[in-house]
Amino acid sequence: MSLRDEAAELDAMDPLAGKRAEFDLDPEVSYLDGNSLGAPPRGVAPRMAEVIGEQWGGRLIRSWDEGWWDAPERIGDRIAPLIGAAPGQVVVGDSTTVNLFKAVVAAARLNPGRPEILVDAGTFPTDGYIAESAARMTGHSVRRVPVGALASEAGSRTAVVLVNHVDYVTGELHDLPGITAALHAAGAVVVWDLCHSVGAVPVPLDDAGVDLAVGCTYKFLNGGPGAPAFLYVARKWLEDFDQPLTGWAGHADPFGMTPGYAGRAGISRGRTGTPDILSMLALDAALDVWRDVTIDQVRAKGLALGEFFLRCLDELVPGARVVTPASRGNQISVAWPDAKAAMGKLIARGVIGDFRPPEVLRFGLAGLYVRYADVLRAAEELRALG
Ligand SMILES: Cc1ncc(COP(=O)(O)O)c(C=O)c1O
Repeated sequence: MSLRDEAAELDAMDPLAGKRAEFDLDPEVSYLDGNSLGAPPRGVAPRMAEVIGEQWGGRLIRSWDEGWWDAPERIGDRIAPLIGAAPGQVVVGDSTTVNLFKAVVAAARLNPGRPEILVDAGTFPTDGYIAESAARMTGHSVRRVPVGALASEAGSRTAVVLVNHVDYVTGELHDLPGITAALHAAGAVVVWDLCHSVGAVPVPLDDAGVDLAVGCTYKFLNGGPGAPAFLYVARKWLEDFDQPLTGWAGHADPFGMTPGYAGRAGISRGRTGTPDILSMLALDAALDVWRDVTIDQVRAKGLALGEFFLRCLDELVPGARVVTPASRGNQISVAWPDAKAAMGKLIARGVIGDFRPPEVLRFGLAGLYVRYADVLRAAEELRALG
């Protein structure tokens, strides 16, 4: 069977094929960048018209008491099942970067008397920048350690370890339960960055005993550009979670206007200031696409898309150097000379992915809307680049 016939058959048999109709996507475009910016679910635009027209326009300030004020916790509880978290441990708001700062400083305060913070050496830059600054403020030093060596490098000096679940360049999926257990054995508090795994692969936070985690919602959760991030604090740490951004929205009595700070009980103490309601309610609407689909189904589709893409590359672009290992998230990365120019040409031909240094093309395989025909087309266009 030709790859074309196979792609057509796989698309016809795809149990998630109907989900694509819930997204506003140009059929002529092969969109393989959901690992950077997810596509817009169709339900978002009408919901935003309602939020702006009826809630903001009609109800005006009354809307704060009619669902806006509690949105960070309510939407956090909608994300919770996707990351293996029981209710009451996830709050939405601020950017991933800001939540990293809260989590790293709070983690250091949870584990006093240990002088160093370890950071995954391949981390997305913002994590490293934040860890360095947090360390300067809390009197820690930072060591960058490859993920594979974290378990052996962590020891009695290690207060906090910050690690990415999926490597943003290579797409490698790290062993979250195994690494967490090894780091706990060394006495460290572990903060996971889930940006590239949430909505792509199942994440067993509670079962793995993870301490703290952060993640963004504009990639595989399709929340929209700049959508607010989320913060997870394990129930066992909620009472002691002492985060540094002690804004009024995390106060025990936010409308009491008292001069001294006292953190609110539960996950709400992860909040800072006024929530970004428009972005947050766009995310809320985007999460509706998960109503009748499980993360396991999306993961299965992502893996199958990856298998097919790898076979297409093998057959059509035998010289292509895939840098994604067998343990992967929902992304395939290919080393390619002058990746920036190459991606520009692919985009001009209707295949949208992206590139990252050093010379890596990234193809995101969002199971909710990517077609097998899209990954075949990506391989065909790569071959055409020569
Ligand atoms: C792994 C990872 N962490 C953190 C961030 C930064 O997130 P934000 O810009 O929302 O703060 C990103 C952004 O792409 C990311 O990929």
